[in-house]
Amino acid sequence: MKSYIHYKEQQKAKELINGFSRMPKEEKLRKITKYFYDADSAEEDFKSFWYEDERIQKLFDEFSENTISNYYFPYSIAPNFLIDGEVYHIPMVIEESSVVAAASKSAKFWASHGGFHTKIHSTVKVGQVHFTWEGDASKLHAAMPEMKERFIEKTKPITANMEERGGGIIDIELVDKTSDMENYYQLKASFNTVDSMGANFINSCLEEFASELKKYVMESNAFEGKEKDVNVIMSILSNYTPDCVVETWVECDIEDLAELEEELSGKEYAEKFRKGVQVAKVDKFRATTHNKGIFNGVDAVALATGNDFRAIEAAGHTYAARDGQYRGLTDLTLENGKFKYSLKLPLSMGTVGGLTNLHPLVKKSLQLLNNPKAEDLMRIAATAGLANNFGAVHSLVTKGIQLGHMKMHLLNILNAFEATEEEKNQAVKYFKNIKVSYSNVADFIKALRNEKSNRES
Ligand code: MEV
Repeated sequence: MKSYIHYKEQQKAKELINGFSRMPKEEKLRKITKYFYDADSAEEDFKSFWYEDERIQKLFDEFSENTISNYYFPYSIAPNFLIDGEVYHIPMVIEESSVVAAASKSAKFWASHGGFHTKIHSTVKVGQVHFTWEGDASKLHAAMPEMKERFIEKTKPITANMEERGGGIIDIELVDKTSDMENYYQLKASFNTVDSMGANFINSCLEEFASELKKYVMESNAFEGKEKDVNVIMSILSNYTPDCVVETWVECDIEDLAELEEELSGKEYAEKFRKGVQVAKVDKFRATTHNKGIFNGVDAVALATGNDFRAIEAAGHTYAARDGQYRGLTDLTLENGKFKYSLKLPLSMGTVGGLTNLHPLVKKSLQLLNNPKAEDLMRIAATAGLANNFGAVHSLVTKGIQLGHMKMHLLNILNAFEATEEEKNQAVKYFKNIKVSYSNVADFIKALRNEKSNRES
C-alpha cells in the first residue's frame, strides 16, 4: 500500500453524482476512486482499512451513511488517575501527539498529591420548541398549566421507560421572546435523562409538544381568529447545558509544586502558573487555546466512550462566554499556602444508548472505567480535561510547549520520511538532547542515508 498521496492524484475533474446513496458500497468506492490518478491502488488503499469480520464492518457502515472505508484513530490509555479516591486508567482516542503523555504526566503528579476531586452540580438538560404566535400573550400564559398537563400526558409512551429509570420531563415553561424577535415564543422544557445523553428522547418529546401545542390552540375556545395559528419554527434540544455541570479540582501545598520544576521554588512556580491562568481569563485569544487544551482531554474521553464531542465542545465554549466575554474555563486560588486548581464545565454525557452498546471499543472503554454511570463519566472526562490543561499550562509557563511536543512529534516526522526502524532508533537517540524541528530531522535523515549509501558504494 502506498503510504502517502500525491497531490496531483486528486486533480481529476469531478462531476455531480446521481443516486450515490443508493449505490452498493463497492460501487460508491469505485465512483470515488476513479478521481484518483491510480484508481486501482486508491481502491486498494481504502479497502485495506475495511474490517475483516464482515459483521463488524457492517456495524460500522451502519453508524453513518455513504461509507466507503473506516478512518482509524489511535486508542490510548492515560494511566494512574486517582479520582475521588479511585484509580482509573483512562481510555483516550486522539490523533494529536503529546496529549496522552501530558494527561499521564499530570495524573502521576496528582496521584501523589491527593488526586483529583469532583462534584456534580446538576444534571438537567434543556430542549425548546421555538414558535411564533400572534395574539394576546396573557391568553397563552393562562392556557399553559392545562397545555403542560396535556404535553406530559401525550408524551407518556415516550417517557414511560425513562421514568422507570428515574428520569423524564422535569418542567415545561412558556418563554416570551417577543422583545428579541417579532411574535417569538418558546416552550422551554427541562429533562432528566439519567445515564443517556438523551438527544433522541428529548427531541421526540419536543416534537410531540409541538404538535400538541398546535392542536390545543386550534381546539381551545380561549383563542380566536389568527390566534388559532401557531407557527412552529423548530423543536430541538439545546446542546448548551449550563445546568448539567461537573467540577473537578486538584489541591496541594504550594511548596510541593517545587517538585515540578527544578529551578523554581513552589511559590515562584505557583506565581507563574497563576499569571498563565489569569491571561486566559482576560484575553479571548489565549482563552480559546487554553480551553482547546482542556477539550484535548475531554474530547478524547468522549470519543473513546462513544459520546458526542461536538455537542460537548459547543456547550463548553458557550459556558466560557457566559458573562459576555469568552474566558478560560479553569480557576486558580492560592490561599493559606494551598494551590487549588479547578475546572467547572457543562458536560452532557451518556453511558447507555447511542454508540455505547454498539461500538466494540466503546464497550471496552466503558468496561475499563467500571461501567460508569453518566455522572461518573462526567467526572472522568472533566478530570482528563483538567489534567491536560494543567500539563499544557505547566509546560507553557516553564520550558515552553515545543520541547516536549516536538519530542512526541518526532515519530510523526520520521514516518513522513518513511524512516526505517533502524533510522528511527538512531533519530530518537540523536534528538534526546537536541531540538526537534522538521528541518533538523530532514537534515539528520539525509545525512544518515548519505552515510549509508557511501558505505555501501
Ligand atoms: C495543543 O493541542 C494544546 C495547547 O495549545 C493548549 C494550551 O495552549 O493551553 C498546548
